[in-house]
Amino acid sequence: LALVERPRDLDGLSVVVSAGGTREPIDPVRFLGNRSSGRQGVAIARAAADRGARVTLVAAHLDADVHPDPRVEVIAAGTADELGRAMDAVSPDADVIVMAAAVADYSVATVAEHKLRKQDAPGGLTLELVENRDIVAGLVARRVTGQTIVAFAAETVAGDEELLERARAKAARKGVDLLAANAVGWTRGFETADNALTVVGRDGTVAAVASGSKDDTAHALLDAVVASRAARV
Ligand code: CTP
Ligand code: CA
Repeated sequence: LALVERPRDLDGLSVVVSAGGTREPIDPVRFLGNRSSGRQGVAIARAAADRGARVTLVAAHLDADVHPDPRVEVIAAGTADELGRAMDAVSPDADVIVMAAAVADYSVATVAEHKLRKQDAPGGLTLELVENRDIVAGLVARRVTGQTIVAFAAETVAGDEELLERARAKAARKGVDLLAANAVGWTRGFETADNALTVVGRDGTVAAVASGSKDDTAHALLDAVVASRAARV
């Protein structure tokens, strides 16, 4: 294991990272979830701590083998709604916000008080879903001076060109300073140690292209954050 000396270029800054996948309850024992392990977000939180930041991790569901760094303050959030409230609470004081969590786009319209039984829906069940609010859009709307906001996008794409095109469109639509995009599919992007990220700015410029361990890509993303903050002043 090679020990890499990291720059202390986030010294004194407050960094808030969200990570993992939200779980939207259906009934007391079931939920709608996604395949996010939380590994990339947890790696970003650790990398920011390595670089001197005070770090808060708003953690949705993390895989059992994904452990936040002990230097990181962890706030647990189960649902998209809980994650949104936690982000709203901690973000006003943050210098850097990284929304790496995989937030459910929809939640179940009416959560059943009791466990659903097959006999209540013989032959098939239709769940009504309602759209969740866009958390990062709210953070951008209430952005405080000097704050850097980073979003993520996991996309199923045909190739690098489509990934870049979608990343640019999403960065502009969200109004974030940086958007980190990665290609995902049945066999890539999740439950893996390695990752590949393409980071674009709001104006569509490519700020970083990185691949390797999720620690390496975390540091590459933070390099882009530091560069974006330096370019602004
Ligand atoms: N995000 C959010 N609130 C939501 C959904 C997503 O803050 N309700 C954040 C994610 O954490 C991520 C960014 O928005 O940082 C992009 O998420 P993504 O799912 O790629 O974008 P959507 O706007 O939900 O668009 P779509 O899923 O249709 O591609
Ligand atoms: Ca989405």
